[in-house]
Amino acid sequence: MDKKENKTTTTRRSFLKHTAAGAAGFMIVPRHVLGRGYIPPSDKLNIAAIGAGGKGSSDILRAWQDGANNVVALCDVDTERATGSRERWPKAALYKDFRKMLEEKKDEIDAVTISTPDHVHGVAAMTAMELGMHVYVQKPLTHNIYEARQLTEAARKYRVVTQMGNQGASNPDQQWIKDQFDKKVIGKVHTVHCWTNRPVWPQGIPFPTEKPAMPAQLSASDWDLFIGPADYVDYHPLFHPFKWRGWWNFGTGALGDMGCHIIDTPFRVLELGYPTEVECSVGQVFKRDWTPEYIPEGCPPASHVQVTFPASAKNKSDIKMIWNDGGIRPFHPDLVPADHDLGQEGSHNGVMMIGSKGIIMSSVYGQNPKIYLKNGDILTMTEEEKSANPLYDEPEYGHQRTWTEACKAGFDSKEHRALTSSFDYAGPLTETVLMGNLAIRSYSHAVENAEGNLEFNGRKKLLWDGDKMKITNYDDANQFVGRNYREGWKLI
Ligand SMILES: NC(=O)c1ccc[n+]([C@@H]2O[C@H](COP(=O)([O-])OP(=O)(O)OC[C@H]3O[C@@H](n4cnc5c(N)ncnc54)[C@H](O)[C@@H]3O)[C@@H](O)[C@H]2O)c1
Repeated sequence: MDKKENKTTTTRRSFLKHTAAGAAGFMIVPRHVLGRGYIPPSDKLNIAAIGAGGKGSSDILRAWQDGANNVVALCDVDTERATGSRERWPKAALYKDFRKMLEEKKDEIDAVTISTPDHVHGVAAMTAMELGMHVYVQKPLTHNIYEARQLTEAARKYRVVTQMGNQGASNPDQQWIKDQFDKKVIGKVHTVHCWTNRPVWPQGIPFPTEKPAMPAQLSASDWDLFIGPADYVDYHPLFHPFKWRGWWNFGTGALGDMGCHIIDTPFRVLELGYPTEVECSVGQVFKRDWTPEYIPEGCPPASHVQVTFPASAKNKSDIKMIWNDGGIRPFHPDLVPADHDLGQEGSHNGVMMIGSKGIIMSSVYGQNPKIYLKNGDILTMTEEEKSANPLYDEPEYGHQRTWTEACKAGFDSKEHRALTSSFDYAGPLTETVLMGNLAIRSYSHAVENAEGNLEFNGRKKLLWDGDKMKITNYDDANQFVGRNYREGWKLI
């Protein structure tokens, strides 16, 4: 057993668990005498947040659960963005560099929420897991396929409890969809449509050239920490906050932003594995007549991607999954009445799984499923089904709470195995989502030929060997499987 593996078996959590169990026999004051709602310190996790502003503020709040756990440290490069969290937990230690926080507090922290921009997820999660900490990581799990594979394997190696922040995974509506599919209500599925109205932030635009001053709360070293493992670029409000999504250096575009919420439904229900083929086309931008802008650093304004999966034990038909973003959405199937919105109300996001006997349609997070059968029947969840599950009343369907409870129960516990998006599941889901991005980046990448003209050789169907993590028919595309890390940063 190496040193790192050994560390995971002696975390504060497991120490507390053992001492708490050992001490139980000697307890003089029964726990109920201590008062209703009292949680002994040994039953609380010490949690920390990496990224405490934006989505991070609600992730750590929901993991804290009104005091069921302790928030011991907060890390955010931008103190102003993290104001809400800092004020809520004034005693928590404050950091800007997550590496410093994890190292200095390694004996105190049991579990970490990671809600930074996408480019930091992999490095931050790996650092925490190596120290034996459980991790809740926002979606997409990582910035690229290689990182997703590494995190999935590391979670098993370090025996830590993990969950990706695609909260729809815990939505009971998804379970209903799964049950209907398992009962063969729509038969074998051959085509899946997924779509989103994202990007709803600037995307498909040339890289900014001006150098605006940094906001007062950010120093040069804060910005350097924001950049983290990515290529260095100067501060610009088109990157931070929130708008980093539209640049490959930091984000994963519309597909990366919404894919883990939307593709989650068919990936889970149909028990899909690694895809075998991917093909795409993307929207272009023209600032001049006839000459499209060449913006390989920016995610495109719209994309149309088709991913092929082989038949599985669960669904004995090949599947074509068609993804659209940027406002492009699928055509209205004949089976769906013309006055029914596709997917979400307003049709902004959605999923349709088209089977031999009918269609299952739902919104983002698997919400509000409807089934349209070829015999004309339309099936929806009953009111009893909708009210039976208390998860509907919890924010994000208890997705963060169930993770903290599984952390307390430990690796491979019943609670851990019941998690809906631990890395065993979330890793392959994220890989599938990022497979689309691999195709988009390959499509958008040009090489200059001898005449000085740009050639786009990646505009073709790409064949994928999932086990080897390799495009087999166009080697140039393999540069997008992983990334180079800036000096001083590494994944493993
Ligand atoms: N599950 C959901 O519904 C949901 C919703 C929104 C965002 N997200 C995900 O949450 C993540 C964050 O998105 P956001 O919209 O909150 O972005 P944001 O830019 O609004 O917030 C990110 C926060 O992380 C901080 N940060 C940036 N780099 C950091 C670093 N190296 N170390 C520590 N802190 C750092 C920023 O200062 C900011 O407070 C993304 O992965 C996104 O996909 C998920």
